[in-house]
Amino acid sequence: MRCSYWFILKLSFFVIFIVLIWRTSQFYCTNQQSIDTSIASTTILTSSSSAPCPSPSACPTDCPSSSSSSSILLPSSISRSEIVHIAVVLALAKETSHIAEFHLLYESWRFIQIFSPLSEQVIIDLIVFCELPSCYQLPVNCIPLSYNYKLNLIPDCFYQKLEDQIVSDWKDYLYMTSIAFMVTPQYQQATINYKWILRVDQDAILSPGLFLGLLRKHPIKLQKKQFGGLGHGTEFTNIRLRMIAKKLGYTHMGIHNLCSTWLVSPKDSIKIANLTTHIGRYLLRNEFGRHVPGIEDLPNIGEWPKWWRGVTSLYAGEIAINHIYSSSLSHQHEVSVLDHPSDSQDSLWSAWHIHCLHNPTYFAKFRHRDDLYYFLRRSQTKRIRIIKDYYSAQSIIKGIIDEFYGTYMRNETVTGKISVRDYVTVLAWIKAYAATGAINL
Ligand SMILES: *[C@@H]1O[C@H](CO)[C@@H](O)[C@H](O)[C@H]1NC(C)=O
Ligand SMILES: *[C@@H]1O[C@H](CO)[C@@H](O)[C@H](O)[C@H]1NC(C)=O
Repeated sequence: MRCSYWFILKLSFFVIFIVLIWRTSQFYCTNQQSIDTSIASTTILTSSSSAPCPSPSACPTDCPSSSSSSSILLPSSISRSEIVHIAVVLALAKETSHIAEFHLLYESWRFIQIFSPLSEQVIIDLIVFCELPSCYQLPVNCIPLSYNYKLNLIPDCFYQKLEDQIVSDWKDYLYMTSIAFMVTPQYQQATINYKWILRVDQDAILSPGLFLGLLRKHPIKLQKKQFGGLGHGTEFTNIRLRMIAKKLGYTHMGIHNLCSTWLVSPKDSIKIANLTTHIGRYLLRNEFGRHVPGIEDLPNIGEWPKWWRGVTSLYAGEIAINHIYSSSLSHQHEVSVLDHPSDSQDSLWSAWHIHCLHNPTYFAKFRHRDDLYYFLRRSQTKRIRIIKDYYSAQSIIKGIIDEFYGTYMRNETVTGKISVRDYVTVLAWIKAYAATGAINL
């Protein structure tokens, strides 16, 4: 009697167990499938009729063959001469926070490669001049710059150790190394064959809108030169900069809202860097301190935003750019598509390049750093619980891809609802999850 009771109990546990396994596996499989097919179905929808597949990898097997007629270029139909080569160049200091910020820039560079066929028409290389030991904390596919002897058909990442001489030359204002590296022979040799140079800070993020800009498919027109249109001072600053330019014999065109990002030719980038470092040295030596007429009431390092030593490179860059382009510079060269603020709620597609400014609102690099400390101090189990938001992060990434294929493949202006802020936030967290995943033993 007792024995058969136990037998029935065991049997029913066994049956429940089998049913549970079956349900779990079914749940897992259907979820897997819905993630895969929803991207593919958008692709089918937008690439129906005569439009070809957006990319070989996103293409279901029954896609129309690439030989079908269309105005949209496919990789096989792009001639080598039509490919635009651009180098994103930056200096990386040894501060750990800067290295972490660079990894976000790197992730964005990797991410935008999925926007085929644009990423086959514009090849974006990354060139990093790193201060040791930050060179040892780069991703594995960043290889020495000496291997950059010809332009490739796939995007590459290169690094070059920042010369000790540059670091010691600017030890009183280390930030200037982020421009001084562009005056070195290694830089000149490595960049001469590119069509474009995008000079950025390490706290930059690339938007897929950069492809549209460089291919002249963006509402904002690509010009021979453009600079991030963000101011760095007040009217007091502007008057002072014009006065100093005049004193030194440079022409100032009155263009003041120039931030740290330049999109120019390789030759111009060297010219601007050369003059900027030259003027920067002068400013540091002569234009700060209580003995300087006009700023006697300011501390020795000046005072933000009136006149501040911390942004000397921006002051120097402004004078240099105004002088070098004195015959052609105007307000149209201060563009909102560069140095677009990372807390912006504009569509991601309205930016080419995003800059993490010192804002209190997300996405803000300092707040994100605090959140990361908190995240990393959690136990493994708690971290997994926090990552539950992963699926909403994934849906934003999916949304960006859908926005692209939904509009670009219909030959419409690419736009959408996902904001710059959402893009950067999601990218930053996915980077953190992946990095902890990789070492979370
Ligand atoms: C920088 O400018 C100086 C002075 O005009 C010039 O002699 C030098 O050759 C320039 N350097 C580069 C790398 O262009
Ligand atoms: C796409 O748009 C461009 C410019 O508006 C036009 O020249 C081209 O014919 C269009 N292609 C298709 C397939 O509609």
